[in-house]
This record gives sequence, C-alpha cells and structure tokens, in this order.
Amino acid sequence: MTSATSVTSPAFEDRDGVVWLDGAFVPWRDARLHVLSHGLHYGGAVFEGLRVYGGRPFRLTDHSRRLAASARELGYELPFDVAALDEATTEVVRRQGVGDGYVRPVAWRGSDHISVSGAGVSVHVAVAAWEWPHVFSAEAKERGIRLGTSRWRRPAPDTAPVRAKAASLYALCTLARDAAERDGYDDALLLDFRGRLAEATGANLFLVIDGALHTPPPDTFLDGITRRTVMDLAREAGLAVSERPMEPGELARAEEVFLTGTAYEVQPVRAVDGREFGVGKVTRALAEAYARRVREAPPS
Ligand SMILES: Cc1ncc(COP(=O)(O)O)c(C=O)c1O
Repeated sequence: MTSATSVTSPAFEDRDGVVWLDGAFVPWRDARLHVLSHGLHYGGAVFEGLRVYGGRPFRLTDHSRRLAASARELGYELPFDVAALDEATTEVVRRQGVGDGYVRPVAWRGSDHISVSGAGVSVHVAVAAWEWPHVFSAEAKERGIRLGTSRWRRPAPDTAPVRAKAASLYALCTLARDAAERDGYDDALLLDFRGRLAEATGANLFLVIDGALHTPPPDTFLDGITRRTVMDLAREAGLAVSERPMEPGELARAEEVFLTGTAYEVQPVRAVDGREFGVGKVTRALAEAYARRVREAPPS
C-alpha cells in the first residue's frame, strides 16, 4: 500500500478554530447538526472539496458554482449565492491560517421534519478548512498507485443524480474503496453501468495512448474541475485530447494511466488489476504543469 494515512488524528470534531455555518463563524467543536436531520436520513447532502495553495483556494468560484448546481440537482436551492460562498471560503481559510490545505463546503436539508418529502425543509450550509498538504505519499506520487476494478458501477443518469457531487453517491465510492484496500490496492477503478471505463473513487481517469490523452466523457460521473484544468494544460502543451467512451480492454493499449482530482492532483497509476504501467513522461509533465498552475496568480 502506498496511500497516505486514512485515519486522521485528532478526530475532525475535536479541533481548534472556526467553521462557517449558515452565515456565521462558530467555534469548530460547536459546528453540529441534529441526528434527525433530513440530509442524514435521506442522503440529500452535497459537498465540495477545494485545495488551498499558498493560502489561496484554487478555482474557488468554480467550486462554489458546482456546490449550488449539485444542490439544484438534489432539488433545492442554497440560501447563499456564489459570491457569498466565495467570501465565506476565503474568510474561513484566512481565519484558520491555512497555507497548503483543503476546504470542505457542505449543504444539507435540516431537521424540520422526518419524511421522504424534501418540500419546505430548511437548507443549511457549512464551510470548514484545514491544513492538509498531501493525500498520497511522495512515494505514491513518484511510483504511482495500484487500482483494482470494483464490482460497483457508476449508475445510469436516469437512476441517480450522477452529475452532482452528492453524498449519496459516495456510498458506492466507500464500498469500492474499502474493498480495494482490503484486496491490497490503493484505490478502486469503477466501470459505469454499461461496463465502460468511468473513474476512481475520488478522481477522474486518463489513459495515454500513442502519446495522446484519452478520457471518458463525464456522463455517469463528476466532470472534475481538475480534469478540465489538465485537459487545458495538455492542449496548451500541444497534446491531442480525446474525450470518448472507452472500454476496459483499452487499458491494454495504454502507455500511461493517471488520475486527476482536487485531492489527488495528477496521480500516476502504476497498475490496474494485474496490468503494470510505467510512470511516463506525459504524466510527469502534466503533474508538473498542474503543480505550477495551482500556484499561479489567477487572471485579474
Ligand atoms: C468521485 C469523484 N470523481 C471525480 C473527482 C474529481 O473532481 P475535481 O477535480 O473537481 O476535484 C472527485 C473529487 O472531487 C470525486 O470525488
């Protein structure tokens, strides 16, 4: 196993600082919700994950917009607009003194009633931030991680809100990830309901074939913000980028495989099931370009 720690200490509920909750900064340990919250029972929560580099959240407004869009997919509107979410995040990062870290905005329906119906239930939003330099170890970045194909599949778009960053969809990711780790892999590769290549449990998938990038279209999974950034970087570097449906058999033709995600950044994959890949020059060049891009000042 090359992955980083999976258990953090101290527990997340027992930390210092503040959390932004429904428009106010509250002491970290007081940022609680009731056990009879609708979001907990009926899986309506949506969330985001952003990274902070040198004190600055990367692509902040894109993440705030996606949180609002995810909530809409789940049938509710956030009580704060995108500008207010941006401001809350910026201020949480500042107050927490985060240099290189992570931000977790989350929204859920509250405890007004317990019934499947979501109509009229209050909506709550929180943003928390903490220092968190790396997900995978330096060794994993260098050598790549190992994926095992999961028996769980990404659902069809008419059976789940597949484009939302919806907490309910992460039930699959947790099942897949835990099984992969039990089997000695670092992460799971999920196929979609048609048996095509989809993504990992928290990151999108790219194959390098004949020196060009190939990635499946995000029609059953999250269209990652990192994925978009990496596709832009590849095109800027003169690489061909093909977004197309892909069968698992295409892994046999891949020279390199890597994952992209806010937390994973550009993460090389050294093996899928029994098949080994090198960590090649395309992956390394894109990882370096991404590491530069996240620390560049945003265009004014
Ligand atoms: C299931 C899943 N797919 C893909 C991604 C990549 O998305 P992004 O690059 O926006 O972080 C994530 C991470 O947020 C994820 O959890």
